[in-house]
Amino acid sequence: MVKITVIDREDKPHVLDAPTDMSMNLMELCKAYELPVEGTCGGMALCSTCHCYVQNDIELPEPSEDEEDMLDQAFFVEDNSRLGCQLRLTDELDGLVVKLAPTAG
Ligand code: FES
Repeated sequence: MVKITVIDREDKPHVLDAPTDMSMNLMELCKAYELPVEGTCGGMALCSTCHCYVQNDIELPEPSEDEEDMLDQAFFVEDNSRLGCQLRLTDELDGLVVKLAPTAG
């Protein structure tokens, strides 16, 4: 179990307990806590509704080509943009802080 802080679109931080033994990703974790993350594509890197900004310098795995391609098409992309569904919950993510990106519509 690790701690991940998710800052919602009203700038409110939520400290979430993230299980690292259930092959979950950050999008699924947010949904489990009923944060406003749609995850429309089910975690296939195809919708960008799980777009978030990494707020601290925790070392994360490099984005895959699929993630890069989707971020190329997403709105409000910044240097620290990632797709939550592509971030698998592992011990390395302990202490991660992310902020949810604005929705496109
Ligand atoms: S849930 Fe669709 S891109 Fe992450």
